[in-house]
Amino acid sequence: MNTRGSATRFLIANWKMNGNILFIREFIETFCKKFRADTAIQLILCPPVIYLKYCFDQIQSLPLPLSNAIYLGAQNIASYSDGAFTGEISGSMLKDVGATFVLIGHSERRNLFLEGDAQIASKVLRAYDAGLVPILCVGETLGQREAAQTEQVIQQQLGAVLSVLSTERRALGLPLLVAYEPVWAIGTGLTPTVETIASVHRAMRHYLKEIDSKWAQGVSIVYGGSVKGVHAEALWAEPQIEGLLVGGASLVLDELLGIYEAATV
Ligand code: PGA
Repeated sequence: MNTRGSATRFLIANWKMNGNILFIREFIETFCKKFRADTAIQLILCPPVIYLKYCFDQIQSLPLPLSNAIYLGAQNIASYSDGAFTGEISGSMLKDVGATFVLIGHSERRNLFLEGDAQIASKVLRAYDAGLVPILCVGETLGQREAAQTEQVIQQQLGAVLSVLSTERRALGLPLLVAYEPVWAIGTGLTPTVETIASVHRAMRHYLKEIDSKWAQGVSIVYGGSVKGVHAEALWAEPQIEGLLVGGASLVLDELLGIYEAATV
């Protein structure tokens, strides 16, 4: 896995609480066989946790180099390493069943499951402890955008995580993906313009560099929120956008293929 090469871009499929074994089998048979391992796009599939191991086995059964080019991400992680936490799943368990990445701080976790910045920051640490790469999701609500608070909100969300990442941890060069996902764009069909996304990503990069310029080189910034095939070419063409996090459209094979193919034109 290479999360630090500047040319590497990410296509992340977040299936949320959707899909089943039949869907996964068909997805891997059709989509993954069209995926070309020699492109600079890293595909990360984030199935519901119960299907991680099944996905892993399906991917392993693909021929090389394909089986080495498709990664798995979990959609959530416990903020504890182990113990009496009924229903929770630890980072080491996710790693054990084949995950390399983990989504943390998705707005559905923040809003529906009331995860706060401090809990999200502990989840990032637990991910690193387990050897997983966090995909930290940040983004403003519509009200916050209208009140011109976008940068402030995102800095606060990033800052909460950065405040627990010690200099020693940063010096290890641990990779991080940050997903800019405006809450108002998720699942709504609304998207910011490419220029707006680029300017938010630029501001985030500037903020990260100010904290630690060397470490910031290992951070990739991707965009998510109502990404569809029709927008994909323009999004991939913007150098500030280092990948796409796709929810609803990742459940529709042709739509996801369109997004992928737009990256390789
Ligand atoms: P969407 O979801 O593509 O359906 O808007 C994106 C996400 O929630 O990660």
